[in-house]
Amino acid sequence: MKKVALFIASTMIAGASYAKTCDVKVEGTDAMSYNTKTIAVAGCTDVKLSLKHTGKLPKAAMGHNVVIAPESEMKNVIADATKAGPAKDYTPTSASVVVASKLVGGGESTEVSFATSKLKKGTKYKFFCTFPGHSAVMVGDVTF
Ligand code: CO
Repeated sequence: MKKVALFIASTMIAGASYAKTCDVKVEGTDAMSYNTKTIAVAGCTDVKLSLKHTGKLPKAAMGHNVVIAPESEMKNVIADATKAGPAKDYTPTSASVVVASKLVGGGESTEVSFATSKLKKGTKYKFFCTFPGHSAVMVGDVTF
């Protein structure tokens, strides 16, 4: 009996130490910028990614989202988002997208979660805003 209980307890501890949800907070501004150039998720099994638009401009003029995709797919993803247009908040549907937040305007926030198991070793990932023209400067690296 004692051995069984010990085994269960150690398994629970091992499980608890393996799963780790990290809170990542990114801000977008009226000056068409993020407040960070890096989203670091090493050691995390899951990520709760929040985006806060700290500006005042409406979504139609200065909308921001956070999309994570392989660097090699960035151009395709942006083309896909542009095709989706304002009616669909420039949300890309490409299969290569790891995660895409909602598009927000000034004063708004949004949150999205993803598992880091979706990031493949040896692939370089970028995070960027798919509002037309923004990814030229609203872009950074995802490290894992
Ligand atoms: Co933007």
